[in-house]
Amino acid sequence: MSYIMADGPGGAGAVIDPTGDLLRINGVIEAEGIRVGFILTTHGHPDHTSGNGKLAAETGAKIAAHRLAGIKKDLPLEDGSVIKIGALEARVIHTPGHTRDSVCFLVGKKLFTGDTLFVGECGRTDMPGGDAGALYDSLFDKLMKLPDDVEVYPGHDYGARPTSTIGQERKTNYVLEKRTREEFIEFMAEP
Ligand SMILES: [Fe+2]
Repeated sequence: MSYIMADGPGGAGAVIDPTGDLLRINGVIEAEGIRVGFILTTHGHPDHTSGNGKLAAETGAKIAAHRLAGIKKDLPLEDGSVIKIGALEARVIHTPGHTRDSVCFLVGKKLFTGDTLFVGECGRTDMPGGDAGALYDSLFDKLMKLPDDVEVYPGHDYGARPTSTIGQERKTNYVLEKRTREEFIEFMAEP
């Protein structure tokens, strides 16, 4: 999933994970007159970064990604980094687990979760850099500490609805049921 944000029509903006149909993304950018200053990368997997180079070349946007991301980037990010996009602020929450470089972006009450948290699911941890224990810490010590009314915009539309809230996920996502860290690691190892 790609997301486009701006601080208003004709305003400063950013694109999260530009992939897939870049023509469609460009169409929205042009129709709204958005000045794209940043490409925000949730993690370095190709299905989240394949459009970075082309969109950066077309718009002059800076590519922002966690410092551990093995991709071309202009702005290395850390946990707690804040990116100013005109009147908007994107706060970086480092959420390793799916990959070491995974981050979520909190913009006001909107949380862009990449492959860390999906609606009703979470990202897999059995690929290189995956770590179920780290994902437990990211989900329970970071994301579940956010207020219920924070909206969740995941990196893939795998759930019953395209978006959710932290409160809704806390109540209904089976991944977020009460488990110890050890139980969670065993749970993630189950097929
Ligand atoms: Fe991924």
